[in-house]
Amino acid sequence: MAVTIPEPYRIKVIEPIKMTTKPYRQKVLAEAGLNPFLLKSDDVFIDLLTDSGTGAMSDQQWSGIFQGDESYAGSRSFYHLDNVVKDIFNYEYTIPVHQGRGAEQILFPCLAELAKQKGVSQPIFISNHHFDTTKAHVEIAGGQAKNCICNTALNTNTPDDWKGNFDLEQLADEIRKSGQEIAAIIITITCNSVGGQPVSMDNIRSASALAREAGIPIVIDAARFAENAYFIKQRDPNYHNKSIREIVRDMFNEADMFTMSAKKDGMVNTGGLCCFRDDENLFRSVQLRCVLMEGFVTYGGLAGRDMEAMAIGLQEALNENYLHSRISQVTYLGEKLQKAGVPIQNPVGGHAVFVDAKQILPDISPVNFPAQVLCNALYIESGVRAVEIGSLMMGRNPATDEQEPSLFELMRLTIPRRTYTNNHMDYVAESLIDVVKKADQLKPLDFKYEPKILRHFTARFKEIPRK
Ligand code: F0G
Repeated sequence: MAVTIPEPYRIKVIEPIKMTTKPYRQKVLAEAGLNPFLLKSDDVFIDLLTDSGTGAMSDQQWSGIFQGDESYAGSRSFYHLDNVVKDIFNYEYTIPVHQGRGAEQILFPCLAELAKQKGVSQPIFISNHHFDTTKAHVEIAGGQAKNCICNTALNTNTPDDWKGNFDLEQLADEIRKSGQEIAAIIITITCNSVGGQPVSMDNIRSASALAREAGIPIVIDAARFAENAYFIKQRDPNYHNKSIREIVRDMFNEADMFTMSAKKDGMVNTGGLCCFRDDENLFRSVQLRCVLMEGFVTYGGLAGRDMEAMAIGLQEALNENYLHSRISQVTYLGEKLQKAGVPIQNPVGGHAVFVDAKQILPDISPVNFPAQVLCNALYIESGVRAVEIGSLMMGRNPATDEQEPSLFELMRLTIPRRTYTNNHMDYVAESLIDVVKKADQLKPLDFKYEPKILRHFTARFKEIPRK
């Protein structure tokens, strides 16, 4: 029997990408202040910066683009999307938004406000792990973001099926200690910040039961909901025989609302959602914010065609053959690196391979950004762009202004959906293996320019001598 997992689609349109020379890449990376975020994408050969909005749409979605209804109010494409949400998630109320953070900026102030009405001065939001914009929006809304990630996630070498899980004891403790002050529990599926790792159905149920018992609203951060469902089907014997659709229903039954960046499993280049199971009052107040911040309630910052493509993309994401080929491609890259001794978050996540730069560059201090050093070396070697998830992205402690070491120093090789082939993955793996062999020649980084916030986007660096 064949062991290769072929893509369940063929290629109808291609986009040429440009291979550059090493001296050219050295020059443009220097001009970009040794920060790959500041490179022109034309100078990138294989772009693994993110899986967000970088995937390929299907012929059905492109047809939907032509059928989009651009009416300001009451767009047919909105009602299509609304019906798809009801059908997949069984949630009554849908607000379209321009992307995931659009949902965060209209929902979190309303949840914080509800807590403040009960006399809480600084509402707490607890997540398995907040994504960085999620944390930022909690803080802008006057809240405090706490993470309750399980311990196994912190050790990249030791495999565990459910590294996205909540530490339930810690969660129960937090609820016992500050139940009244907790504005929401946010379940991030899959958990991006610890390596695109799934949350088990049991863990979702238990976290949800703890929250419900204490009367705390439950939010799902649903960016990679279909990938999480796929892992549940693969790894939980109770779900081997269930469809992805049934698993998604079961996951979302455990929550009251969700925010979604549809740029991931929504399979679109832009778009997002903020949806509610049945809380009409909360829905109405979030809708009001939507009008001010995103746009009228039936387009929320999107063109009609974007909503049409999202309605189709959400359904395509549930296709098991697609998910199998998608996750297998990411695993293919991860296992190739592992076989060559490159340390990665183990097991491989859903949307990316997270390379452990702490282990590759043990003598480069977190304040000299080992994962950024690795990203730069990989770009110069191969034209492949990866992204740092570590101390640089985490930033300084806002209270003390100190640079504290992040839990991880990871380089994320993020795989866009339906975009690259396994030949591209081979090239990425071979290039990175070469870089890792020469790791002792790489130089630490220090700031030439350090922005106050979200500094990884625009910071500029210089190389400093190795101690
Ligand atoms: N939640 C999660 C788990 C995410 O990964 C992201 C974005 C967001 C929310 C925000 O969504 O970008 O549409 O506003 N993650 C991207 C990434 C940017 O590269 O991981 P957005």
